[in-house]
Amino acid sequence: CSLRSVLKLRLYVADMVEWDGVRKYAVHATLALGAAFVTSKIVNYANIRLRARGKPLPVPNPLHWLYGSIPLLAERVGKNEEHIDQVLVDLMREDKSLGKLFVLKLVAIDMVIVCDAEACKEVLMTHNYAKSFTYDTLHPFIGSKSILVADEPTWARQRKAFNPGFSFGFLRSQVPVFAAKTLELLDTKLAPRAADGGVVLLHNEATLLTLDIICRIALSEDFGCLAPGGPPALYTAFADLITTTAEYARAPHLMWTRYLPWNWLRWRGLQARFDSHVTAIIRRRLADSKASQGSGPKDILGLAIDTCRAEGDRLDLLELTSQLKTFLFAGHDTTATTISFAVYEIARNPAIEAKVLEEVDRVLGGRAPNADDLAALKYLNCCVKESLRLWPPAGTARIAPPGTTLQGYDIGRKVMYIPHFPIHRDPDYWGPDACVYRPERWQDENYVAALHPCAYQPFSKGSRDCIGQTLALMEAKTVLALLYQRYVYRYVGTSPEAQAYHITSYPKHHVPVTVHAREALGLAPKPAATPASSIPAATTAATPAASSPRPTSALRADAPSWP
Ligand code: HEM
Repeated sequence: CSLRSVLKLRLYVADMVEWDGVRKYAVHATLALGAAFVTSKIVNYANIRLRARGKPLPVPNPLHWLYGSIPLLAERVGKNEEHIDQVLVDLMREDKSLGKLFVLKLVAIDMVIVCDAEACKEVLMTHNYAKSFTYDTLHPFIGSKSILVADEPTWARQRKAFNPGFSFGFLRSQVPVFAAKTLELLDTKLAPRAADGGVVLLHNEATLLTLDIICRIALSEDFGCLAPGGPPALYTAFADLITTTAEYARAPHLMWTRYLPWNWLRWRGLQARFDSHVTAIIRRRLADSKASQGSGPKDILGLAIDTCRAEGDRLDLLELTSQLKTFLFAGHDTTATTISFAVYEIARNPAIEAKVLEEVDRVLGGRAPNADDLAALKYLNCCVKESLRLWPPAGTARIAPPGTTLQGYDIGRKVMYIPHFPIHRDPDYWGPDACVYRPERWQDENYVAALHPCAYQPFSKGSRDCIGQTLALMEAKTVLALLYQRYVYRYVGTSPEAQAYHITSYPKHHVPVTVHAREALGLAPKPAATPASSIPAATTAATPAASSPRPTSALRADAPSWP
């Protein structure tokens, strides 16, 4: 009966509509749209060609007549699930004629690979070319008005508003938050594994830790990622958004599947879930701030609201949401990767491990670190820098106007990708042991002074460098100091770690480690040479843990006396 009704309805609609007319209009509209698209492409191409200056860049072989360099990359990336940056290193090593500046042809996009430090300086510092349109794919989780992609003058306004939240003065006060969250990780995730000898995927745990930390200091919210029940659904939605975007970026030829109704609905659902949560927090904070005349929480968001009020500026809701989403994304994976790779390298080098343990014991004397301690942890600082050198978590992509040249090559309207991995491992800049984890290199003042300014750029260079670099370094040092104060770690992966792509980079095997009480491996702290009482009073008083012999679970981020 219902089938008959549907058929009747269809006949009725068919009678109503003049199908010939509709078809005619549809065909005309499609042809017009197609013609407009092709014309715009021809005009764009002609514009680039006519205004091209300089010599053409070298291209790696083989080059497919239609897909350009895609089959070459697909084969290399696909075979061993290599990170594109590792593939670039291999291409340059195999074909010396490519030099440190060459182009990959990706059907409609020419991507210039810039691995030459002097060329990087020109792109980032001398000209500071605009961010590439390829960042558009990140909009679902960084927002369309993110500082990461904004152009002048919007970028300058946004950076000014958020700078106070990334100032050293504010970050100093947040060290206890980093410490409390790390102790939560130690107690809930690492202590049980130390007891039962089980394996911990350190990168996964570090990712939950760093997300909890950035939520606390940016929004004064606790995501509860380290809570016993596992990460909340909100975290899963956020992680899923990033993973899906990374999958599309890895297989651009499948990008269209994103628009299939079921994929699109799922994608929009994840985005709406995450957006609505962050927007609701910001709305509430804006209302509270208005009501309390600026006496709300002093976190990254609160300081930005105060700065805007003082400057008479106004960031709209979308702008604020975009920045907070950007901080949650940019401020967790990257730092987690730095921490995990540092543990991976230290675990494989007993001599380095011994120096780390000695310094942590000597400087901290069994208590949790405060901001002054972080400055005194000089060797640990070198370990973090070396982790960022060998395993840089992010790069940058820029685009220059038509007619631009770089070292005599035509780069106009081409996407320029600056991969840090090949630059940070180039023996021309770092010497023959470029690929060796050697924190001591950072202690050699002459060696460091002789480095090219763009040979080391984990946080990028120029005015668009990372706003969160001080935060990342302070956080990584606090976490590592506490991890090593209590335990040592042994890498148990069946193959060495490698970089994997996930928008940012991460350790491919997630750094599987076993966790050992220091005493069990004969690495217990030696009796302190410096009595704890000789530590300056002001320094120790700043941290509630100062008087406790060993940090305990009582040091929680929600402890009322903490900032
Ligand atoms: C080890 C940790 C980190 C590394 C290696 C890192 C690396 C980078 C790099 C390479 C850039 C330039 C990106 C580009 O040009 O596309 C960048 C920019 C940025 N990072 Fe980080 N980052 C780290 C931690 C953080 C943290 C903790 C935050 C904030 C919570 C953050 C927020 C940002 C923002 C907002 C930008 C854009 C800055 C601008 O354009 O003005 N990052 N970061």
